[in-house]
Amino acid sequence: MKTIHCKNYNIHVNNWKSFENYIIDLNPSNIFVLVDENSEKYCLHIFLEHLYRTCHIIRIQSGEQNKTITTCQWVWTKLMQNGADRHSLIINLGGGVIGDLGGFCAATYMRGVHFIQMPTTLLSQVDASVGGKLGVDFAGFKNMVGLIKIPAAVFIFTDFLKTLPNDQFRSGYAELLKHGLIADKESWSILSKQEKIEDLDYEILVYESVMIKKSVTEQDPYENGLRKILNFGHTIGHAVESYWMDSKTPLLHGEAIAIGMVSEAFLSYRIGKISETDLFDIRNSLLRLFGHHPKFVKPVEDLINLMHVDKKEF
Ligand SMILES: NC(=O)c1ccc[n+]([C@@H]2O[C@H](COP(=O)([O-])OP(=O)(O)OC[C@H]3O[C@@H](n4cnc5c(N)ncnc54)[C@H](O)[C@@H]3O)[C@@H](O)[C@H]2O)c1
Ligand SMILES: [Zn+2]
Repeated sequence: MKTIHCKNYNIHVNNWKSFENYIIDLNPSNIFVLVDENSEKYCLHIFLEHLYRTCHIIRIQSGEQNKTITTCQWVWTKLMQNGADRHSLIINLGGGVIGDLGGFCAATYMRGVHFIQMPTTLLSQVDASVGGKLGVDFAGFKNMVGLIKIPAAVFIFTDFLKTLPNDQFRSGYAELLKHGLIADKESWSILSKQEKIEDLDYEILVYESVMIKKSVTEQDPYENGLRKILNFGHTIGHAVESYWMDSKTPLLHGEAIAIGMVSEAFLSYRIGKISETDLFDIRNSLLRLFGHHPKFVKPVEDLINLMHVDKKEF
């Protein structure tokens, strides 16, 4: 049970009491909870045990393909139909899609209402819920429309991870590895050698990873310099992710980022920034954890074009 103090909000890890008190103190006019069918099935009943208030549930369909303005219009309509006003609270209970889209809807509805991020995937707990980047995909490009706005609070509960499918676990694990690689060598060397990643103690791992992202984003909230370090693996990774987004075998975000990290580590080696030993360590560890994706090597020109239009979301 830990609390991470950020500049204008707090991130609470495994602390239902804080959540309950927060709701009492805020005393919103009404509460809207945004879920998808999976967070509704696996997480909502746990959440409702700690909400001593009535609330409106807004459910959208899971998946990156639904992180669109059309879905936002539907959410804004539901908010209006159910009497959301400027003192309402929106709680985003789900993975990064729910957090990004729900946060965007909240930040724009009536020029902005309070919202809480309650991330339920490993990726959203260590990455998407921290730093205030919100938005949706547009015209085939990831996170093309959005804004930066910090949430009223973030409540992370690592128990939600128990129902997460293995591939989603690995996807989030890529971001944990990235945080280790860019800021904490010891954590990288421990994390990169794990065999059964589902069995680790995530309370500590999530806390440490969030601390890294928080520290970087607070030093450079608008990505003028240091925050770019969080993009490691993402310039190539996003291009790979976008390229296969509409294919029959799309890659999960973390899988694409793992490919990006190997590729960008290679470039770092080529310009003399890391040693051959480090390059092999990164490559071998990521290959062991994520497997090999031979299809990546072919469409280099297309990937470079995608990199030109990319804007980062970490
Ligand atoms: N804002 C940021 O800084 C930031 C950073 C990184 C990623 N992102 C965004 O986050 C998104 C990816 O997030 P994600 O990986 O969480 O994807 P996601 O939200 O699509 O969730 C992955 C899947 O897990 C399901 N799920 C969620 N919680 C579950 C649980 N507890 N048990 C079982 N299933 C569960 C979801 O329904 C979904 O099917 C992308 O849109 C990406 O652009 C944003
Ligand atoms: Zn990422």
